[in-house]
Amino acid sequence: MSDLNLRGGTVVTAEASFRADVAVRGGRVAAVGTTIPDDDVETVDCTGRLLMPGFIDAHTHMDMPFGGTITADDWDSGTAAAVAGGTTVLVDFALQDIGGTLGGAITTWQAKATGRTRIDYGLHVAVCDLNDSVKQEIPSLPARGVCTVKVFMAYKGTPLFTPDEGLLEIMQIARDANVMVMVHAENGDAVAKLQEQALLRGNVDPIWHARTRPEATEAEATGRAIRLAEIADTVLGVVHVTCGGAADEIRRARDRGQIVHGETCPQYLVMTIEDLEKPEFEGAKYVCSPPLRDASNHDELWRALSTGDLVLVGSDHCAFDFAGQKELGRGDFTKIPNGMPGVEERAPVLWTHGVRAGRISPETFVAVLSTNQARVHGLLPRKGLIAAGADADIVVWDPELPLTITHANRHNANDYTPYEGLELVGAPERVYVRGNLAYIDGDVVAEPGSGEFLPRSLGASAAAEAA
Ligand code: URP
Ligand code: ZN
Ligand code: ZN
Repeated sequence: MSDLNLRGGTVVTAEASFRADVAVRGGRVAAVGTTIPDDDVETVDCTGRLLMPGFIDAHTHMDMPFGGTITADDWDSGTAAAVAGGTTVLVDFALQDIGGTLGGAITTWQAKATGRTRIDYGLHVAVCDLNDSVKQEIPSLPARGVCTVKVFMAYKGTPLFTPDEGLLEIMQIARDANVMVMVHAENGDAVAKLQEQALLRGNVDPIWHARTRPEATEAEATGRAIRLAEIADTVLGVVHVTCGGAADEIRRARDRGQIVHGETCPQYLVMTIEDLEKPEFEGAKYVCSPPLRDASNHDELWRALSTGDLVLVGSDHCAFDFAGQKELGRGDFTKIPNGMPGVEERAPVLWTHGVRAGRISPETFVAVLSTNQARVHGLLPRKGLIAAGADADIVVWDPELPLTITHANRHNANDYTPYEGLELVGAPERVYVRGNLAYIDGDVVAEPGSGEFLPRSLGASAAAEAA
């Protein structure tokens, strides 16, 4: 663990940007200011660079069985890509086995990550097979360091789907256990019916993935989940918000005084439904759920980020190879594994298309990628801040660094990038994890196994905010 002084940079927090040096001692931030202790430590010249708290991505899927196959990234390749994009913490989804327990999912996921992860990580659990013993298990999750559960309102016809009565009951139990419920909000019944009708008419191509999941299926389910959370009197997370209609539901709920934390993802800010029409089955590379939308939604999502109606940008990194995985859905779009990579691209895409384009401020960039993530997901005050006492997870960001995304310069393992050819300006130059250099100038130097499990607690985050 190296002690360092980062000198000459501009610190960007969720509230303000200011000229300051940062002293790192023993893996933590020791001081931030214009007069930090000199000591006899390594000095890093950060002139012209921005110093930001390490980014937190609370929406990834590493080494996950899904759609009849398994994601292409394990914790080694997935966290290499994460740290290359400035991300120093993942909160990944541990999937309950069919017939299994939530505790079993945590144990399985910790075994996958241990010895492989290059950055610190926490876990959510995803309810994939609701039964009475699963409900009884929810209050035990905080003792395992897990304070969030995901419930799928989509994927009707598979055990992942949870009907409203189950969702409401989970919310009631979670409220009393200080656990936050996060929903995948799509109307599973409507999507299943539309899929059946499309296939009967011979509509099998990737574009039908999106056409059978219209915006209204997401907006309706988002509103329904919000009202169920109101009935249960509990906080709600809505992941991967794709469209203005769903963002409107969240804004209206927040205006009424409900606590709803909405997340969107970079693909919904820059890609469109037209990507699913690419020839030669290439559209399958863009199949994710909820699906990409028409471009009119981009402005609405950017606006929601800038006003604070949406407070998080996660990647929903869920990478599959085109060869042998996406291809499972040739001739039947419902068999295309859902998901795309994005953990490495999340911050650079948001910088160029958000900050440089004048849609969000640098402070909002830090908020939605780091500080709000720590706040919402129970990681304050250890993560998400550049402040004395916090872990020295620091991104040295070069706001002028040109970056053309291509598969060859990606650090993850799948065989394509949906961002191929995208030209960006602004990327990490160096990344530190607990004071250790983890990434520099294109090279990941963090070793597999150097990351640690992070127990999370919503109570701890709330106490840190109140302090
Ligand atoms: O298409 C997606 N989003 N795949 C990952 C699973 C999920 O629902 O987040
Ligand atoms: Zn989902
Ligand atoms: Zn996801």
